[in-house]
Amino acid sequence: MIAEKKSILIVDDDKRILYAFKKALEKTNYNLLFADSGDAAFAILQSESIDLAIVDLRMPIISGYEILEKLKKDYPSIFRIALIGYVDESKILKALSKNLASSYIIKPWNKSELTNTVSYYVNLYNELKERGILEAINSIDALPTIPEIYFKISKAVEENYDMDKIAELIEMDHSISAKVIQIVNSAYFNIRTASIRKALVYLGINNIQNIIMSQSVFSSVRKEFANPLWLHAEMTNKIMLLIYNNILDKKLDEDLRSVGLFHDIGKVVLINDYSNGYYDLCKVYTESEDCVIQEMEKDKFGVSHEEIGYYFMKLWGVAEEIPEAALYHHDPFNPAVKNKELIMVIHLANHYSKVLLGCKVNEEELDKRVFEELNINREYFENVVKNLKV
Ligand SMILES: [Fe+2]
Ligand SMILES: [Fe+2]
Repeated sequence: MIAEKKSILIVDDDKRILYAFKKALEKTNYNLLFADSGDAAFAILQSESIDLAIVDLRMPIISGYEILEKLKKDYPSIFRIALIGYVDESKILKALSKNLASSYIIKPWNKSELTNTVSYYVNLYNELKERGILEAINSIDALPTIPEIYFKISKAVEENYDMDKIAELIEMDHSISAKVIQIVNSAYFNIRTASIRKALVYLGINNIQNIIMSQSVFSSVRKEFANPLWLHAEMTNKIMLLIYNNILDKKLDEDLRSVGLFHDIGKVVLINDYSNGYYDLCKVYTESEDCVIQEMEKDKFGVSHEEIGYYFMKLWGVAEEIPEAALYHHDPFNPAVKNKELIMVIHLANHYSKVLLGCKVNEEELDKRVFEELNINREYFENVVKNLKV
């Protein structure tokens, strides 16, 4: 089957930018449409069927925000991306938190980077469409935002700053650095330190970035919702590390030592958008016997916590194992899973995290084949896990 050619609408009042897009993407297989104003864009939308729209935020007369708002309201099946200048970082946060755009492209760009970025979003668009969740995701009204410190660290890493500089950046944010230290010192990282510099050396910049990111996502929702989910995430991560260190006797890749923190991040995103609606759903889930949370989510919101977690982590551009863990932690034998061992471990860790924390546990939801596949004796495993500190 020949894949359908995707149509991309690019809107910018600066004609040089439109031309640069044209040059950068001319060898790709997209149908490109250009508009230098809001009106021109709306005219195109009337006659063409568009898959992706890339919209400059700063435009005279009809601003990029207004265009994105209209797209969201009237064309919910178009995947929206904002185009911004370096100086507009705080503006983009506003657009992202209201889900006016799924992501953004910073001007100026380098040509091959732009081609890669566009193809990344086209692939993501295709996946969401195939799963039938594009409109549900496009219509969400509030998404947790990226903390400014995350931008700053990414930039510092890109510019090859040394560890001391990066540590200083983190230390400037007291609540984030306190949390990093607390997590780094939590049982299964096996580290004792009060220094961000040392935490960076021990865990590596990627894990520290991940911890900062998970923290800011969890802190975007009310404490009574966030706390139990955070305890569960942290415990899942601990058990994941315990399985690798003490049971499988294997070393988990350094950069993946925080993957467990993200498996249920989709729940946080759903709470952030639907707050009481999601809380009510969880109550029904806890009080009734035969129900599967992801099916209830699909019924009520059109998207499950696994799917939205996957999408959200894909947008943040983190290591591929993180979105994969979000998508398949309840379905470790799905043929699409690439990192089978890790996903099986997270599946186990997720289950036993609930056991240890005294949450509702459904035996049926645990796929027992993982014991055999991982060559783990269940009884032995349960004995080791029960000694973990809650
Ligand atoms: Fe889950
Ligand atoms: Fe979970």
